[in-house]
Amino acid sequence: MTPDARREAAVETALARLDLPGKVALLAGADMWSLPADERIGLGRLVWSDGPAGVRGERWTPDDPSVALPSPTALAATWDPELARRAGRLLAQEARRKGAHVVLAPTVNLHRSPRGGRHFECYSEDPVLTGEIGAALVAGVQEGGVGTTPKHFVANDSETERYTVDVRVDERALRELYLAPFETIVRKARPWGLMAAYNGVNGPSMSEHQELNNRVLREEWGFDGVLVSDWTGARDTVRAALGGLDVAMPGPATVYGEHLVRAVREGLVPGSVVDGLARRVLRLAARVGLLAGAPAAVPAEQLPAPVDGEALVRELAARSFVLLRNQGGILPLAPAPARLAVIGAAAAEARIGGGGSAQVFPTRVVSPLDGLRAALGPGAELVYELGSDPRTHLSPLAADCTAELLDADGTALGTAVLPEGEVRWLGTLPGGVAFGGLSRVRVTTTVPAGPAGRHQLSVRGVGRFRLEADGAVLFDDVLLPVGEDPAAAFLNPPERRFDLELTDTGTAEVTLTHFLPEAAGFAGFGLVSFTLGHAAPTASAEELIERAVAAARAAEVAVVVVGTTEEVESEGVDRAGLRLPGRQDELVARVAAANPRTVVVVNSGAPVLMPWRESVAAVLLAWFPGQQAGEALADVLLGTVEPGGRLPTTWPAEEADSPVWEVSPTDGRLDYSEGLFIGYRAWQRRSGAAPAYWFGSGTGYTDWSYEGLEARLTGEARQSEEARLTGEARPTDGSAEALAEVTVRVRNTGARPGREVVQVYVATDGSDRSRPDRQLAGFAVVEAGPGEQATARITLPLRAVQSWDPAAQTWRTNTGVHTVEAGRSAGDRRLARALVVPQD
Ligand code: BGC
Repeated sequence: MTPDARREAAVETALARLDLPGKVALLAGADMWSLPADERIGLGRLVWSDGPAGVRGERWTPDDPSVALPSPTALAATWDPELARRAGRLLAQEARRKGAHVVLAPTVNLHRSPRGGRHFECYSEDPVLTGEIGAALVAGVQEGGVGTTPKHFVANDSETERYTVDVRVDERALRELYLAPFETIVRKARPWGLMAAYNGVNGPSMSEHQELNNRVLREEWGFDGVLVSDWTGARDTVRAALGGLDVAMPGPATVYGEHLVRAVREGLVPGSVVDGLARRVLRLAARVGLLAGAPAAVPAEQLPAPVDGEALVRELAARSFVLLRNQGGILPLAPAPARLAVIGAAAAEARIGGGGSAQVFPTRVVSPLDGLRAALGPGAELVYELGSDPRTHLSPLAADCTAELLDADGTALGTAVLPEGEVRWLGTLPGGVAFGGLSRVRVTTTVPAGPAGRHQLSVRGVGRFRLEADGAVLFDDVLLPVGEDPAAAFLNPPERRFDLELTDTGTAEVTLTHFLPEAAGFAGFGLVSFTLGHAAPTASAEELIERAVAAARAAEVAVVVVGTTEEVESEGVDRAGLRLPGRQDELVARVAAANPRTVVVVNSGAPVLMPWRESVAAVLLAWFPGQQAGEALADVLLGTVEPGGRLPTTWPAEEADSPVWEVSPTDGRLDYSEGLFIGYRAWQRRSGAAPAYWFGSGTGYTDWSYEGLEARLTGEARQSEEARLTGEARPTDGSAEALAEVTVRVRNTGARPGREVVQVYVATDGSDRSRPDRQLAGFAVVEAGPGEQATARITLPLRAVQSWDPAAQTWRTNTGVHTVEAGRSAGDRRLARALVVPQD
């Protein structure tokens, strides 16, 4: 018997030994992050963990850190599935270290609008790039014996009213754009799980969507894994069970449990349906090695070799950086400048990841400033200026804090030492303290000695707080949540600030007490989350900019790091606009006017407007680069490594030009009225405005010429004519079937070795206006030394020339003449060849 057959047999044996309540018990969380064990059948406790940019584990505290990877937009910007696969192996390694069995990743919703709050957490505006990167990441994680849940199935492309919005999307757009990455991942990488979105699609909620969950996902694509709800996303017992939702998370209170037992007994849900749900949960447990007698999908001796997490994060970041402008070849900075001005809040305090469930506490952070200082060494003069501080909340107080967990009488139940003024406990409390008895959390610390003058302290959180400094009470009141997203209290809580006068040697003893409400927690499960913030005195906003300008003027080169803030890019809320927050645009413009050798590094996970982009020497996008941010930045700026990234999404020049701007539902509905025309597919139809930078844009440190393109139909496609004549049915799975073999020959015409992302698009003959003019069909990364040639070999899938036919409910091959084009972006065409697709 094969291991797969043995596993299936063990699953059936376990299933047969369970009665109805026993089966139902497998289908709901025991707590925030786990499914229950069942010793009777040798089933272990299964732990899920977020997420896409690092594995948090069951605890979400700075004292249980995780390797923080670059944001998923960065991973997609590498355009390199092999690298994504290695990132996946690192996630698996981290999951094992943290006792997690399934990682709640990747997020493969699309960049429909640049305003999407979780844009940073998704890959691209293009389903092919998203699908390929996602499939590779899933393969990498699962090679490490850990499961995945590509999410959020489907059409969770923005955050406003995300729990309830009904997304209205036509079938073609659904199939050709939003379902497409999930289909690629399911067919190619066979994920062991998938997460249902909160939202509805054309009516039914995705946790109850019979058509998409049972018929498309399972029957048509052959998905045999577990479909888990998004957290709190399962709302109706019968509809969820019949709609194919295997697991309701978190627990213990869910719509399954006793409700499902009753529904079966009342005949509302057939017992066979529950068998199906339970079978899939047992299969998942077996795959990750939690079912006695069932071979794990990856035996211990076949686990991949350990990954050096920090080294990989550094490599990933540098490979993701996108160089959009490099006037006069200012980059790399070689020889290294003797006098460098480094400017910007994000230079000293890097934004390494976006906010929300994808956020992890890093094992350490190398800021751009630290990275450049270390790389330049003591011989160079490096001057740092804040320039402008866009943050609207104070950073957590940077000192060890003692947190005491107290009961109602003030008795300490436990204590924890925190590395900074941030408390974030979700699902579990330090030292195993139970949520039930917890009444207060008291944080005590000392404001470190700093400059004399007006310091600021802040309280950020929801609920009642009491803040004392050197015995004086600064605040004793309640902070109320803003906005309507139930998670907002946690993801984006309000802040109150207080002044504190200190002398330059003076410190202050600070105590912040948080009084928990009677029923502690977020949506019924345990959560304690608040921040004690601090800021030392600074000069006025104008003085800060003037100092930065003066530093830039006196330096050989000015590096300005600009970026978004935690409030701008976070789960639970869409972006109001794309402008850089605060006075950062003015800062860049004034620095660039003072020093023509100004390099701007953009630290954001999603598009921002760059009104100064034509007046600075260089623009380098660093995304949210993960914890080794500064090392990767020094590598790229100083030229040890070239920036390897290409845009995974088109960046607009103006907000008003964005093809899709509206992300707010009307009467609970969000209409995807643009159909297939998002991102570059929409820009191609514009006669007026052009984007600032097309999808696919970016260069390294060398030049490339495109020298040859060949495209020939693969055997299968050529045989289709024969198949038609012999009456054989054509397979409809065009995502896996090959259409053509394409080779692109490129030459490195520059003076240093380099890497090129070769992009292949398929253009229509224009006769059918319902189809986008030109779509990405395949891509490959090649390397070559100076003067050398490299050949990219790319297999185009049949799907590249197919459209979904809603009337026939199948994929239709668009026969006739297509043009295969190789280019450096969606707006660039180097070589073209006709490709005639024969009749079906
Ligand atoms: C998010 C998911 C996440 C889950 C658990 C939800 O609110 O949408 O992406 O995996 O929480 O943290």
